[in-house]
Amino acid sequence: MTSALNARVVILTGAGISAESGLRTFRAADGLWENHRVEDVATPQAFQRNPDLVYRFYNERRRSLATVQPNAAHLALARLEQAWSGDFLLVTQNVDDLHDRAGSRNLLHMHGELLKAQCLACRADMVWPGDMDRDSPCPICGHGPVRPHIVWFGEMPLEMDRIYQALDRCDLFLAIGTSGHVYPAAGFVEAVGPRARTLELNLEPSLAASAFLERRIGKATELVPAFVEELLG
Ligand code: APR
Repeated sequence: MTSALNARVVILTGAGISAESGLRTFRAADGLWENHRVEDVATPQAFQRNPDLVYRFYNERRRSLATVQPNAAHLALARLEQAWSGDFLLVTQNVDDLHDRAGSRNLLHMHGELLKAQCLACRADMVWPGDMDRDSPCPICGHGPVRPHIVWFGEMPLEMDRIYQALDRCDLFLAIGTSGHVYPAAGFVEAVGPRARTLELNLEPSLAASAFLERRIGKATELVPAFVEELLG
């Protein structure tokens, strides 16, 4: 069933898929994210306490996108989507734009996007390629300020209804490069229907590894293109 090109596929990706493009994962050995504690830059409380630091932090992350390229794993998933005739949904926890640049289309950024902003006055979301700060006006309502379009710890991830609907109906669920530390994404494998094939591709077994029927250990740039070949072959 799952090798048929009309099977329904849901793929979840995390920071591990972008690691070989040169973007750091969240849970590196020192426990810091780009030299900051997560509580200092990725919570609504941090933004209230020290907005300048949070704006600066995400401005740096946004600028760093110009220095990286999609890798073989991003490209393989875009190729899979193009060749697939069944339902296909790619859900990423990543706020980088590497899946978008690789050509993935049916893609949900459940934790937001670095290249977008949200207006704190009118709540509109908008494309935002440059720096932002507390004086950046909203181009839509003229007020603002705008904030990074990032789902911080304690906030509700995006598109949850659509994601759970797809998980419930899928025949194949694949998780790539995610540590299983952060919910709700870590619980997606438990939400798939009983007949679905579930497979984890990761550098090491994740915290959720035992919930998957199959596991493959290795680098995303090797495992993902090989698995895509298997599916399409
Ligand atoms: N290939 C495959 N897997 C890799 C690679 C690689 N080249 N490099 C690292 N990994 C694996 C790591 O072993 C780890 O299990 O990717 C995983 C990355 O885990 P995290 O850093 O915890 O990233 P992620 O799971 O995406 O984090 C989830 O946490 O801080 C929040 O909102 C943030 O979206 C993020 C969420």
